[in-house]
Amino acid sequence: MATTDSRVTIHMVASLDGFIARKDGSVDWLETADEFEDGDTMDPEFVAAFLKTIDCYVMGSRTYETALNFEAKGLGWAYGDKPTFVLTSRDLPRTRDTVEFYSGDLAQFVNERLRPTFRSIWFVGGGVVSGECLRLGLADEVRYSILPILVGDGIPFFDKLDRDIALHLSEVKAYKSGMVALSYDVRGHQGVPGKTTT
Ligand SMILES: NC(=O)c1ccc[n+]([C@@H]2O[C@H](COP(=O)([O-])OP(=O)(O)OC[C@H]3O[C@@H](n4cnc5c(N)ncnc54)[C@H](OP(=O)(O)O)[C@@H]3O)[C@@H](O)[C@H]2O)c1
Repeated sequence: MATTDSRVTIHMVASLDGFIARKDGSVDWLETADEFEDGDTMDPEFVAAFLKTIDCYVMGSRTYETALNFEAKGLGWAYGDKPTFVLTSRDLPRTRDTVEFYSGDLAQFVNERLRPTFRSIWFVGGGVVSGECLRLGLADEVRYSILPILVGDGIPFFDKLDRDIALHLSEVKAYKSGMVALSYDVRGHQGVPGKTTT
């Protein structure tokens, strides 16, 4: 377990029916058009300041490949100059110095390599890696941003879990864009009481 006050967050954006991409991996539906009058506006300065608090990113190889495709289309690299760890057993192109590849035991990697060095560790997908992170009990927090759309089928937020994971709702924010951002602490982690009985 953690030897520092580090925090592992899983964050993704999903459709209301819980998908992070279509079956073929496309995410064209992320561009939703809605207006929720009572919602908050995302302040770019606040977002920029918040992103500075993230110390490193972890992602699966398929998410990395999507990020590379975005970049090739001129849409930029979403992870700034922060260290970005890509989980893969393949030999993928390394497009910048901040990218590092890892293959193997995820619990060992997070607890022995990342937690002692980084305080705010963000898992940014996809479903396979998020499922692995939860199954291994590595996540302290889940941030789930729901867009105002149903896509019917696709890649789920979490790949199969083998047990229930009790959560504590810590924040709810609704935005003018129609997005609802939910933050949950994983019960039993970092002082959040664990599940007793149901
Ligand atoms: N909506 C959102 O916010 C959001 C966020 C992220 C991603 N996405 C979308 O989700 C899709 C990708 O998700 P996904 O669930 O299919 O895949 P993924 O989680 O991004 O990647 C899974 C792959 O990571 C590698 N991997 C996982 N654990 C590993 C370990 N311990 N050691 C070595 N390699 C490991 C394996 O690939 P190898 O074969 O390379 O070993 C595995 O097939 C993309 O379409 C992306 O656009 C959406």
